[in-house]
Amino acid sequence: MELNGTFAALQSTRLPASRDATAVAVGRSLAETGRRLLLVPYRRERVELPPVLVVGEHRFDVVDDLVEFTGLPPETVRSLIARRIENFRTEWLQLPDELRDDRWFYLSSRTYLFANAVHFHDAPQSIDEIAQLLSPGARVLDFGGGTGNLSLALAARGFRVDYRDLSALQAEFMRYRLQRYGLQDRVEILDSWAELPSDAYAAVCAFDVLEHLPDLPRVVRQIAASLREGGLLLDTPTFAITIANPMHHEDPGLEGLLAEHRIALEQTLPAFRVWKKSSA
Ligand SMILES: C[S@@+](CC[C@H](N)C(=O)[O-])C[C@H]1O[C@@H](n2cnc3c(N)ncnc32)[C@H](O)[C@@H]1O
Repeated sequence: MELNGTFAALQSTRLPASRDATAVAVGRSLAETGRRLLLVPYRRERVELPPVLVVGEHRFDVVDDLVEFTGLPPETVRSLIARRIENFRTEWLQLPDELRDDRWFYLSSRTYLFANAVHFHDAPQSIDEIAQLLSPGARVLDFGGGTGNLSLALAARGFRVDYRDLSALQAEFMRYRLQRYGLQDRVEILDSWAELPSDAYAAVCAFDVLEHLPDLPRVVRQIAASLREGGLLLDTPTFAITIANPMHHEDPGLEGLLAEHRIALEQTLPAFRVWKKSSA
């Protein structure tokens, strides 16, 4: 392939050309200072390393999975989980304005891989509570399933799970984990761009997800159509834009949106809410 003139000239220029080397050195130093400054608001945050999640004969070790999957040193992975090097807020806050778009952020985020690793490992009782709401072998959608902790745990309990997340990196991590734990037959990874199956699920889990969506009416329509009559939607009510979650959205009226699809609040448990789709 022909190189265009400018690129060909760059190819033949050896580093360091003094002016460019200065620009690189100063740019790196300013970026490093910016990175450290953006961590300041979160300096008191403490995130514990997630313990191994034991479900039946399965032992899900998300920390070791991350070390093996990323190829990063264990200490670096622990620091990323603890949100000490960078975190999902600093990644969001560092985005140039042209790139500050929800879809692109979640699709390409590297920090969410570590942020979501702690979920469910730090609260295994939630998995028991979810399982108690379902019939044996029920088909469940883990919408915005993150690192896949819930999907794996539900699969280990014998449920049929569809996992879906916009994040390319997390979906790939999930693919790795399924293979590592031999659960490929029980979990399907849905393409983020594909239609959801209609009338398919006994439950849709959307934990810490709905507040991340700028187009909630569209997603609610999709989720509602994918639920069977009598099916459950499980969610967490965390709509609020805060320093902890600058990328969140305020509630555009979730309850009303769900009501349009015959989905009403059934009960509020300490860790999540349960909504139910009634018959037409
Ligand atoms: C706070 S995390 C929660 C992840 C997981 N449910 C958990 O509890 O660990 C929010 C997740 O929603 C995903 N997400 C954001 N927008 C999405 C969309 N439009 N469709 C599917 N997933 C999305 C993000 O990539 C991220 O993994």
